[in-house]
Amino acid sequence: MAALIFYSKPDPWEEWGPALAAELPHIEMRDWDDPGDDGQVEYVLVWQPPRDGLGRFPNLKCILSLGAGVDHLLVDTDLPDGVPVVRMVEEALTVGMTEFVTLHVLRHHRRQLDLEAQQRDKVWKAVLTPLASERKVGLMGLGELGADAARVLLALGFDLASWTRAPKDMAGIESFHGVDGLGPFLARTEILVALMPATHETTGILNKDLFDRLPKGASLINSGRGGLQVEADILAALESGQLSQATLDVFETEPLPADSPLWDHPRVTISPHNAALTIARTGAEAVAANIRRFEAGEPLRGLVDRDAGY
Ligand code: GLV
Repeated sequence: MAALIFYSKPDPWEEWGPALAAELPHIEMRDWDDPGDDGQVEYVLVWQPPRDGLGRFPNLKCILSLGAGVDHLLVDTDLPDGVPVVRMVEEALTVGMTEFVTLHVLRHHRRQLDLEAQQRDKVWKAVLTPLASERKVGLMGLGELGADAARVLLALGFDLASWTRAPKDMAGIESFHGVDGLGPFLARTEILVALMPATHETTGILNKDLFDRLPKGASLINSGRGGLQVEADILAALESGQLSQATLDVFETEPLPADSPLWDHPRVTISPHNAALTIARTGAEAVAANIRRFEAGEPLRGLVDRDAGY
């Protein structure tokens, strides 16, 4: 019997094991700590597995990520060659990210930080904000998650643009791409939302040079990956007023160290990498659907281009 091995620290095997078994009765579900015969393992479903840990399965057919991001897999230089890698595409992740992005774009748009500061000082003073249609929001990354968030931001009426690596059009959005598109995209963006994968091309992209190309007082939301951002540059840009605020869900080092000045910066909102989390029920359904596609020789949803890094 073919087997699937599961590894994740944050995702509970007690929930995922039964959810996967109910979807795929012809595959034996095994926890990483109780692996059985390595030769039977055809699938692995993992989040941040031990480095070099996947090389020991000689009959591996598919590597499935428990997260939308696959940087946790591609950092492994010994990742078995020729085995397809797929990212997680499922409802809880997509809806979770759209809720997070919408929540924080609205908080920035409506200047909620200023209202909260006024409340602390018992100040009764209206804070005026422009119409959503006059607010320029810029999305860096327009994949599964970015495109879903974009639909909701468009429905709220925001003036939306996207920046992507390769050209990518979406109705209602002004699209920019590549090195040449970055400058004009940044010049028109008041609220910048980073939803890119971490690749060798995007590491440290949220840095001083980029912030300087935004209009003064723009704001940043990063719920992509911590490796995209240079935290010292974010702090400096907040200090100079180039950035007016930042919402960060991801960090250069996670958990965010207790001595990071970001923790109690008055213009920074922090969440512990929980913008979007997969859950066993919807996640197992999506994994099972992909394994069935694989068995039928159909294209996989979320297949990763290893060279591009996502
Ligand atoms: C979370 O960070 C994910 O990749 O899904």
